[in-house]
Formats: sequence, C-alpha cells, structure tokens
Amino acid sequence: MSRTVPIAGEEVAAVLRRVAAVDRELAAIPRPMGTLHKGDLVDSLLCTSEDPHSSREMFDRLRWGGQVVCVTPDRHQAVRHSIQLANQGFEITQPVKSVSRRPWGLPIPLFGKQLWYFVARKLLLVQPGRITDRFTYHVHLERGSAEGGEQAYVVVKEVPTLQQVTARLQSKWPELPDDVIEKRARKFADKIFPVFLTREAAILKIVNRDLPAEYRHRVPKLLKMEQDQNGYAQRLYLNWLRNGGEPISQLQFARQSADLLRVLHDEVGVMHLDLRLDNFVITPRGVGFVDFGSAVRVDEDLSKSPMLTSLFEELMHTSEIQRMLLKMTRSGQVTSQAICGGLHKVDKAVDYFYLAVQINSPHSNPELKSLIRYDKQSREAQMLAELTARILRPEDPSQPAVRSAADILRGIEQIEQALAQTQGSAAGA
Ligand SMILES: Nc1ncnc2c1ncn2[C@@H]1O[C@H](COP(=O)(O)OP(=O)(O)OP(=O)(O)O)[C@@H](O)[C@H]1O
Ligand SMILES: [Mg+2]
Repeated sequence: MSRTVPIAGEEVAAVLRRVAAVDRELAAIPRPMGTLHKGDLVDSLLCTSEDPHSSREMFDRLRWGGQVVCVTPDRHQAVRHSIQLANQGFEITQPVKSVSRRPWGLPIPLFGKQLWYFVARKLLLVQPGRITDRFTYHVHLERGSAEGGEQAYVVVKEVPTLQQVTARLQSKWPELPDDVIEKRARKFADKIFPVFLTREAAILKIVNRDLPAEYRHRVPKLLKMEQDQNGYAQRLYLNWLRNGGEPISQLQFARQSADLLRVLHDEVGVMHLDLRLDNFVITPRGVGFVDFGSAVRVDEDLSKSPMLTSLFEELMHTSEIQRMLLKMTRSGQVTSQAICGGLHKVDKAVDYFYLAVQINSPHSNPELKSLIRYDKQSREAQMLAELTARILRPEDPSQPAVRSAADILRGIEQIEQALAQTQGSAAGA
C-alpha cells in the first residue's frame, strides 16, 4: 500500500540530511542510480524503490569504499535489501532507520507513514562469486581502530584461500583435470603467494623508510603483518590511499608518475615491475603506486636463491607487462635497445617502458578514468604521444636519449614549459 505513494524529492532530501549528519562523507549529494552513464563510477549513490537496482549494479557503480544510500517506504524491503548487501561485499554503515513521511510538507494519513533507509559501503574489490584476472590476492577494506571517515578503514591484502585459487584456476583452464588444478592451487596458496606477500612486506618496509618524506604518502604504509605457521606473510594491513579528489590533467598525471618512479629507482633503489594502471592510485595528495608484490631491490641478487630465480624467471615471462613488451618488440613498436634489454629480465627498463605506455593511454582503467582529464586531440596529449614514441622508438635505437624514469621526467617537464610558453604568448597576443 505504502508503495503507491511516490517518494517526493523533499522526502529524499530529508533522508540525505539525516545520513550526512551522521557521516560527512555523504555531505556531497549522492548520485541517483538512474542518472549515471555507462562506465561512471562514483563515491556515493542513491537508490530508491522507485528506481530499483540489483546489488551487482550498485557494486559496479561504486568506487572501492564508496557508499550507497537506499530509500524505500517498505520496511521489510529495506531490511531484506540490507541483509542482501551485507552478504554481497558491503558493510552496513548506517542500519535501517525511518523518517516520517511528509510529502508536500504534510503528514500523510495512510499506512506506510514512514520512509525507511540505510547506508552500505563497498568493502570488497570483487563481489563474492565473481572472478577477475585483474587481482590475485584477496584485498578488502576493514574498519581499523582510528576514528572517523576513511581514516577509519585500512586495506587488508591476504593470501586467497585454496577454494578461491581453485575457482580461479578452474575458470581459467576449464579443460584441466581436477587433480592437476588442485595441485597447482595448493602450490599457489601455500607457497607462491605467501612468498610474494612476504617480499612485498619487506620491500614496503624499505620504501616506507627510504622514500623522501614528501613522497611517503604516495605509497602504502605497512601497518601490520600476520604470518602463517611457516613464518610467511599471510595478511598485510596497509593504509588506504583512497582514489578521489579533483581530476588532474594528463600532464600532471604523467609528471607525478614519472617523478615517483624516478625517486623509487634512483633514491630508494627499488624496481616495481608491475606498473599497470591497476596498481596506480590518484588521491587528493597525488598519484601513488600500490602493489609492491613483484618489486625487487636494484642491488638484489636473486640468483642467490634458486626458488626466487625460478619464480622471477617465470614472472618475467608471464606478466602482462612482459607479454606486452614481447609483442611490441616483435611488431616494431618498441625498438629502443635500452628497453628491449628488459625483455624477460628484472630490469628498471620494464618500469619505464610501461610508464611510457600508460601516460599515453591514461583512460584504460575504469577506477582512474574520471580522475584524469584526457583529450586525445589536445596539444598536451599529442606532445605526450610524441614523447612516448621517442622513448619506445628513438631515432637511433642503439643510443636512445631516454633510458630512465629521470629522462622521462625531463621530457615531460620540457612539454610543460613549451605549453606554458604557448599559453603565455597566446595570452599576450
Ligand atoms: N593501500 C592501498 N590503497 C588504495 N588502494 C589499494 C591499496 N592496496 C591495494 N589497493 C587496490 O587494490 C587493488 C589490488 O591490490 P594489489 O594490487 O595490491 O593486489 P593484487 O592486484 O591482487 O596483486 P597482483 O597485482 O600481484 O595480482 C589495487 O589494484 C588497488 O586498486
Ligand atoms: Mg595489483
């Protein structure tokens, strides 16, 4: 019965005032589901019973850590829905409550005199039951001990369960017999993932210690590590570098990324080796890198450990970046001898090769897309494309002018100066 009385805008506004009073993160008006375009990702969503959506649709529309405000005149529906979301990768941050209905400023003399609402936050990266190739570990947000807002959450990165690894292998290789899948899954869950996670913790300690103070907030801080019975890392707790803030220009994105990589390589002495956009964040404090799971110290001698030698040998043949490098060297899209030298190797060139590729196609990651202003036709985009071309295919491939992140940064700064001059002379004309 109550559903027959449409929810008025002012009633929704009353709910939004209530939720914002509890949580200032919701002070920016949540976007109604129905107004979103394909590919849009937002930090706060509004879903009313008049425009119903599945938990999957909400999950897909929210950035990681974003919240949805659900509003309905039906109490049972609100309770049912909140339970469903709690089982689908969300945390209920404001449990089901009601406000009196007063559309047009008047109480209504019907059943359903109240509107029911609750708020839920997306905590998982991947919804339960879904499988992705983008991530390996079980990564989720967890409420920490600090008070208030996003500081209250920490990132938990843990070795996936045997069951999760098995499900992933099965979907990737459906033709493989169960016993082979199980054996491989065990190897990954019991050995390989814990080894890489342990390395990640060790590398983060170095990076957290040695990165100059002004860059430190642009990589995750290792807060805590839990080990398995063999002493390998099972779970890392990291501070959350939350994507968001005002969009930055493509040039700023390029400059900040190249600068962070330069410091990492030249001042800290660490190679990241998995600089896909999935492992970038754009926060109000700048561009950052996460996922140091494949990183190696510049002075590290992997050959001392047969196990690491073989793990990295395999990784440097199978990683997405290495596969891309192979493809691009074969097709002639990469000719620089400095970069070709990184093929199948643990080498700084792997990082700056992929950086050069990424700064030229900054919109290929859905989480970051709305945070980078990119117009392929713009002068800035064209100049960056020319720079990328010079890095990958220099005039003299045996003597490339660009052979480090520092060189790329210099190239970007030259573009900045050239653009500033053109703007200056246009303004003066
Ligand atoms: N500290 C952090 N702050 C913000 N976002 C993070 C943080 N750590 C991880 N993320 C997000 O979680 C995603 C997955 O984490 P991460 O990349 O560390 O693991 P993974 O992708 O499973 O590892 P791998 O790349 O080795 O497969 C990242 O792509 C990033 O979007
Ligand atoms: Mg990753």
